[in-house]
Amino acid sequence: LGTGWRGLINHHIEYLNSFNLTGYVPENGSFVSYGATDGITRAYMLARYTLHQELYGNKPRKYEYSPKILFPTPGFTILGKLPRELGIQTVEMVTDKKDNFFYNPQKLKEFLEKEENQDVLIVDLSIINNPVSTIVPPEQLKQVLEVLENHRGRNGAKVIVINDCAYLGMGNQKQLKRNGEIMNSFKRRIDVLPMTKIFGRPSFRGGFVGTPDEALATHIPAITKLTSPSVSYAMMAEAMAIWDFVKFEDQLSFFDMLHHRQKKLLEILSVRPDIFNLDEYILSGEEDDQEMKEVNGEQRKSEDELAAFYLYVQVQDGIDPLDIPYRTRCYVNNEDTFYLNSKRKGPKYVRFALGVESLSDAKVEKIKKELIHWKKVTDFVNFT
Ligand SMILES: Cc1ncc(COP(=O)(O)O)c(C=O)c1O
Repeated sequence: LGTGWRGLINHHIEYLNSFNLTGYVPENGSFVSYGATDGITRAYMLARYTLHQELYGNKPRKYEYSPKILFPTPGFTILGKLPRELGIQTVEMVTDKKDNFFYNPQKLKEFLEKEENQDVLIVDLSIINNPVSTIVPPEQLKQVLEVLENHRGRNGAKVIVINDCAYLGMGNQKQLKRNGEIMNSFKRRIDVLPMTKIFGRPSFRGGFVGTPDEALATHIPAITKLTSPSVSYAMMAEAMAIWDFVKFEDQLSFFDMLHHRQKKLLEILSVRPDIFNLDEYILSGEEDDQEMKEVNGEQRKSEDELAAFYLYVQVQDGIDPLDIPYRTRCYVNNEDTFYLNSKRKGPKYVRFALGVESLSDAKVEKIKKELIHWKKVTDFVNFT
């Protein structure tokens, strides 16, 4: 039925289990996907199908019931845009820096309770966010899940969470495990674990989808067999080889390397305070377990809470992000990429992506010098 090899499914389950995500329904509860994008597409279809069955069963209906998807921004917007191709509407919720660019529990509650949002029954969650690259604080995750657990939409329908684990494993291990434990208490969810980022192989297109919820699991065969009657043996064979021969310690060295590059990039950018405002990062580099640090009476994240492989950096007032490649010779993603329809007000951000370029000490010094050089070269230009 296109669910993929059992042994491969088990590898993903063991990985998720190590972060306290457990209880996948045996037999029907999981399948192999082509990375996150395919996995999430099918997770949306599964959620819609399940809600339709719960609300209307097999009673003939002119149209299939269409729940709406709540998508937080800034985020990886392809996942907010692709529902349109399935005939599902996405509702955007812009999150705030002071809420760690994650849902604010109170605002979420008020939003869901509005009459016009009674069909918002699928909620996208990512414990490690792209572009922000930090792990959601466990307490905030807990409060958000409580809101979702208690909410009832159209005809008493309950929310289904899509838990995007694209970067699971990167960053502070303790915090990830705590978040896993909290997430695990919310059963009505679909976990998507792509290996495209975790193995550092975007084109490899391997991944997993699984649920601990019986009602969702029942409908997995109906969804998988229609979209992928079978899963590529070539991909699965390669995935099995990686799972069998790459130890988690090796995986951790890869994550450490990404983290090292994040720190190095912060150090590099600090030579251009005219363009980048790095106030929210602490550059001391000391390791500790605290989620947030208090600096000058303000709660700030430490660089050691960085996960994934991005840096989301605030730009100084008056700097147009579109000028940054010219002013620095560094390529950045403008923040607009991470919003659907909203034009956010307030300070601007850009996202750097790391992972391909090695950042040795010699190279770091060279880039710093070049950044200072390009300041001199471009200083005479009037950018306004
Ligand atoms: C949060 C998040 N989810 C999913 C994806 C897509 O992953 P995949 O390449 O496995 O489809 C990305 C890609 O950048 C991402 O950042």
